[in-house]
Amino acid sequence: MADYVGAVDQGTTSTRFMIFDHGGNEVAKHQLEHEQILPQAGWVEHNPVEIWERTSSVIQTALNTAGLSSSDLAAVGITNQRETAIVWDRHTGRPYYNAIVWQDTRTDRIARALENDGRGEVIRSKAGLPPAAYFSGGKIQWILENVDGVREAAERGDAIFGNTDTWVIWNLTGGQSHVTDVTNASRTMLMNLETLDWDEELLSFFNIPRQMLPQIRPSSDPSGYGEVTLRSIAGVPLTGDLGDQQAATVGQVCFKPGEAKNTYGTGNFMVMNTGTELVRSESGLLTTMCYKFGDEPAVYALEGSIAVTGSAVQWLRDQLGIISGASEIEVLARQVPDNGGMYFVPAFSGLFAPYWRADARGAIVGLSRFNTNAHLARATLEAICYQSKDVADAMAKDSGIDVDVLKVDGGVTANDLCMQLQADILGVPVSRPVVAETTALGAAYAAGLAVGFWRTKEDLVQNWNESKRWDPQWSDQERTEGYAGWSKAVKRTLDWVDI
Ligand code: G3P
Repeated sequence: MADYVGAVDQGTTSTRFMIFDHGGNEVAKHQLEHEQILPQAGWVEHNPVEIWERTSSVIQTALNTAGLSSSDLAAVGITNQRETAIVWDRHTGRPYYNAIVWQDTRTDRIARALENDGRGEVIRSKAGLPPAAYFSGGKIQWILENVDGVREAAERGDAIFGNTDTWVIWNLTGGQSHVTDVTNASRTMLMNLETLDWDEELLSFFNIPRQMLPQIRPSSDPSGYGEVTLRSIAGVPLTGDLGDQQAATVGQVCFKPGEAKNTYGTGNFMVMNTGTELVRSESGLLTTMCYKFGDEPAVYALEGSIAVTGSAVQWLRDQLGIISGASEIEVLARQVPDNGGMYFVPAFSGLFAPYWRADARGAIVGLSRFNTNAHLARATLEAICYQSKDVADAMAKDSGIDVDVLKVDGGVTANDLCMQLQADILGVPVSRPVVAETTALGAAYAAGLAVGFWRTKEDLVQNWNESKRWDPQWSDQERTEGYAGWSKAVKRTLDWVDI
């Protein structure tokens, strides 16, 4: 058997190809950004053709850099930005419209209408999601209604839909395979979480012809998603496909119910494995798929999505100019021993989990003349951690399980102070693995398990090593008082529209 497994990570800002060895160590990586197209306020698009060109290019360059070829790869997996919707012509491969990105809010109206007439409850119950512009269903409906000729092409069976995993697989296989996996399908508002199939009633809510949709497959599939025709990896089994937050959960080897990870990016995504049991959230979390490996039963998850975390640090840099680079926030925040009474709730575009209040707006409260930029820097880091505490508390309530160690990954985890604050605020240790690229690693694991490169999930657990752990240092009283201040500040942001 070949010595390595490859993974495509098709993300929101860039696409990368990574190669891992049997120990789960990174052997090679290449990454290219793509354009963020912002045609009007609230709209975010990507060019699917550019995404595919970048994908084929990063695969080739990563292999060249490592001096490897297709024969060195035992399998390849895909992971991707979730929810982003593409519709294209199955004969020519040409997209009818740009990809409508998960952050795009143009379908707010569609989501609100569903909520107001009661169909929202059906979506919650069948798909595990609240109706929101975030998910794919409304985006597909928007393309069908607003792009000339697409509705007719879809009825004829010519126009097909996919998230970026489906688009990349379709192109990797020369237009032969139109497939997705359960995790990606669970972010569309169209899949029934119990049957793991497209649901006719949900499709009717969005008026989407079923023939547009890809076949739903396991996230790790020994039968493969089709014959790869791209020359640089032609013939390599394509056997793993997972949405990126689920892939990070696999990369963090959260295989037991109750195990959770928190990824710190522009936003935060906390995902808890809830096992084969489907846990319906009463606390503002999403019920979603975690993974399905081959013939094994599907595994579910609870997810808390937070819109603004790392992007609040960018705001200090770009809008306020109090730091010149993201790494400077730690130096500034360390100049003071605490937040000096100041709390910052970065609800720039409303609050997501667990509040789901689109009308909330950001607030800085508790100011006195004593406060400085350093307190604001500290309050920003605390805001990242307090938002994660809100989500962690909601998870504990829904699942009945208190996380005893929180596994973390993503860019912000390089900030030592922020991770210490996270442990202090949660009151549990926070642990970061040696291999920080958990998303690509998770897709590689799914692909490698399918071909026997790794035999069992236990092999993967053996690969996980801690690089750093932060233990809580605050007293219970400090924790209680700090969180009380945060809760009051959140209340002010929720009250804002009523004042
Ligand atoms: O749900 C959106 C999420 O999948 C995006 O992840 O890392 O591509 O920004 P990322």
